[in-house]
Amino acid sequence: MTEPGAVACAWPPAPIRTERLVLREPEARDRAAFIELFASPEVGTYIGGPRPRDELERAVPEVPGRRPGLFVIDLDGAMIGMVTLDRREAERPGHVRPDAGEAELGYMFLPEAWGYGYAAEACAAVLGWCADALPGEPVVLCTRTANDRAMRLAAKLGFTEAGRFEEYGAEQWFGVWSPVTPSG
Ligand SMILES: CC(C)(COP(=O)(O)OP(=O)(O)OC[C@H]1O[C@@H](n2cnc3c(N)ncnc32)[C@H](O)[C@@H]1OP(=O)(O)O)[C@@H](O)C(=O)NCCC(=O)NCCS
Repeated sequence: MTEPGAVACAWPPAPIRTERLVLREPEARDRAAFIELFASPEVGTYIGGPRPRDELERAVPEVPGRRPGLFVIDLDGAMIGMVTLDRREAERPGHVRPDAGEAELGYMFLPEAWGYGYAAEACAAVLGWCADALPGEPVVLCTRTANDRAMRLAAKLGFTEAGRFEEYGAEQWFGVWSPVTPSG
């Protein structure tokens, strides 16, 4: 079953294992990490700011974030971040398909997990999964140009620029990634 805005595919997939990480569905034990992610001023710097912790404590469900397209990133049994795939809304700027609704990659990691290549490792695995689950579909990504870490990560993953525009009062970089299709 899918929700509006979610990628249409069989969900959840079996956990995906990379060299250092497991990509899996959220569980109740991830709740504190979810709250930390959304309450962190560092994480929120370029994505609308942190949310008040007491509000999050009230609003976040017992098992948070359980929906199609959301992968918890697990390092040694603890959540360090999340990677999301959602359908890009038609009314937003930035599209590469005439019918819009592209699969859009998002990523958020706890600050203590930055600088180790975990986000790159997790996102590369999600893109690999996309190439199988959504064959031939491009994946898009949007980030503020001021968000150096997110910009470096997008480039490392192989996203290329498809446009720039103003949104939320700041310059946004819009990139696209396409799966490599076997030739011949
Ligand atoms: C965007 C974000 C996920 C990037 O995280 P990150 O840890 O910088 O990204 P990476 O996984 O690519 O790690 C890169 C760093 O790890 C280093 N690294 C260390 N060990 C490594 C390894 N084994 N393999 C790869 N890189 C490694 C790299 O040298 C690089 O360092 P640098 O930042 O000094 O250049 C993170 O900053 C974040 O969650 N930000 C807040 C949310 C946000 O803004 N999201 C984007 C919304 S569009």
